Amino acid sequence: MSRVPMLIGNWKMNKTLQEARDFAQRLGQQSMHLKPGCEYAICAPYTSLHLLRVMLPAQVQLGAQNVYHEVSGAYTGEISAPMLVDFGTKFVLAGHSERRAIFGESNEMIARKVSTIMKAGMTPILCVGETIAEREAGQTEHVVKEQVLSGLANLESGEVETLVIAYEPVWAIGTGKTASVDDAGQVIGWIRQILVDQFSSSVANHVRILYGGSVKADNIASFVGHPEIDGGLVGGASLEADSFVGMAKAIE
Ligand code: G3H
Repeated sequence: MSRVPMLIGNWKMNKTLQEARDFAQRLGQQSMHLKPGCEYAICAPYTSLHLLRVMLPAQVQLGAQNVYHEVSGAYTGEISAPMLVDFGTKFVLAGHSERRAIFGESNEMIARKVSTIMKAGMTPILCVGETIAEREAGQTEHVVKEQVLSGLANLESGEVETLVIAYEPVWAIGTGKTASVDDAGQVIGWIRQILVDQFSSSVANHVRILYGGSVKADNIASFVGHPEIDGGLVGGASLEADSFVGMAKAIE
């Protein structure tokens, strides 16, 4: 089946309000390059969500980078799913490798976040990927399988088919090194097979699986040209509107 390709920007901990405003204005000036056959989003820091909801071109949806699994209560510093829904947030990242490595998020915490996001009516983007040590030890398939299965543990099949998975080898994030298209396609093929085995072919065929790790305008077409790869989750190259548009233009 043909899945709608996606270009998702992850700004990480970047941009003041003025910088976010400048980005949105510049993107708005070039919105004619955003194609109806592709889905776009920016996962921004919480502080820019309201401004972006107002200023982003209609083709670009709003994403958040994190959420807490409880709905409300004494959780100082956290943000809940209903709060994100209030802002018009469509996508939320879960399990990004920086959250796993720096903030100690476990597969179980990530699974709770994934189901919280889904139950609130938003779309989780479950991020998975191996470290360089795991790759060199031949553990990529095992690590990714565990992250996928545990991340989806609290979902029904009908929920799984609407979600997005991003395969991001940790060693390719922000390093300028990308996985080869064949390697990325192979791992994403494994992920799809895991979904077939655990759920069904129909579910697996609906799930969009993105590649992330040093994606930019010069290389995104080769990734998206691979039949298993449904788009890109992009950090650094999503920070400038011209670069975001360059990637949008490169996706057929
Ligand atoms: O979420 C995005 C990824 O961490 C990739 O970041 O494009 O800067 O390598 P990058």
